[in-house]
Amino acid sequence: MPILFVIYKRKDERQMENFRFHVTTDIRFGKDRLDELPDVLNQFGKRVLVVYGGGSIKRNGLYDQVMSQLAKNDNEVFELSGVDPNPRIETVEQGAELCRKEKIDVILAVGGGSVIDCSKAIAGGTYASGDLWEMVTKRAYLGQAVPLVTILTLAATGSEMNRGSVISNLKTKQKLGFGGPNFLPKVSFLDPTNTYSVNAYQTAAGSADIFSHLMENYFDLTPGTEVEDGIAEGLMRAVIKNVPVALDTPNDYDARANLMWASSLALNGLTGASKAGTWSCHAMEHELSAFYDITHGVGLAILTPRWMAHVLNERTTPKLARYAKEVWGVQEAVPELAARMGIQKLTDYFVACGIPMTLPEVGITDETNFEAMAEQAVASSAIATKAFEPLTKEDVVAIYQAC
Ligand code: NZQ
Ligand code: ZN
Repeated sequence: MPILFVIYKRKDERQMENFRFHVTTDIRFGKDRLDELPDVLNQFGKRVLVVYGGGSIKRNGLYDQVMSQLAKNDNEVFELSGVDPNPRIETVEQGAELCRKEKIDVILAVGGGSVIDCSKAIAGGTYASGDLWEMVTKRAYLGQAVPLVTILTLAATGSEMNRGSVISNLKTKQKLGFGGPNFLPKVSFLDPTNTYSVNAYQTAAGSADIFSHLMENYFDLTPGTEVEDGIAEGLMRAVIKNVPVALDTPNDYDARANLMWASSLALNGLTGASKAGTWSCHAMEHELSAFYDITHGVGLAILTPRWMAHVLNERTTPKLARYAKEVWGVQEAVPELAARMGIQKLTDYFVACGIPMTLPEVGITDETNFEAMAEQAVASSAIATKAFEPLTKEDVVAIYQAC
């Protein structure tokens, strides 16, 4: 007689959330693909605004390669250079003005997350009316935008394949993320060789950012996310394996390639699909950058283990213990001990990558601004209500103090 298994669902059991995943960026991954650039740009028009940072692309030869493709293609080329790490609203205003005046057809962002984020804000700012900082503070931009093509030079933010942009206003001491459907890059060139020249500090910082994106999505209470969590664990293991290789041998193609693809997949919505909660460490880090202009990935590396220790409790332990086991191979059977070992592994790893792991090491030597930063972190995010473990202003101050 066949045995019938009847699975009863507990009445209160929640299920996987609905989600939409629609990421249409055309990824051109790999080396020697820049001769595809003219055809890509011609889809949008001939008048191109090339946006880049402080000159790394001139030093590593990428600028010349790009310009020679544009010359061959008879593009009308305009340039906006000098985009700062933690890009400023003033640069966005300058770029938007240029796009309007020169009737730009397409923006070509050549750089890391800061250049791409700034280009997205310019793309929207070209059509937004009034004060562009107001456009940012609204946090969602639903209007038109100039089409954006990117050539990524630093594996970190995932901006090359997502709709977000993070802009700083040093006058108001604010650093805010905002985004919209038309910010999604149309095409992104991901050539790992373009990251060979990234120095050890930025390689480690960028990788800490990738890691943080994966962790922020992973530590969430939404049920039924085995696919998302399994992908995140695999990507975290890939980052752990490849950063030391890239630090040791900066032009190891496979290490750079894995980090680059991990950057895009960590924050293109894949590991965050269906996750209903909000991120914690990014809200706290954006205040560090807003007040002290520090490197984003370094701020995250300093905060993350302290945040994990702060939120460790009976309810959060199972997920923290699972992370320790699946990501770091911790075999400890007592969940709380395993969770603590996972936190220590992460700290040791960041130290081994050469990341400064305390606030004083990055020049933040007193607590003067902690209250104001904590207040702003809570006010500009949902960490007090929707986080893995809700955080009050006092929690945030305590985490800053532990750093
Ligand atoms: O300015 P240049 O001269 O290009 O030098 C940059 C910069 O000094 C250098 N660099 C970039 N590519 C290089 C290189 N140096 C040598 N060789 C290369 N190939 O690296 C430095 C840092 O660049 P940056 O673009 O600032 O770094 P990253 O990609 O980490 O971007 C950080 C910004 O992105 C935001 C951060 O808050 C920060 O403002 N984020 C954006 C997100 C998004 N749009 O989805 C999410 C992230 O969580 C993050 O908040
Ligand atoms: Zn980040």
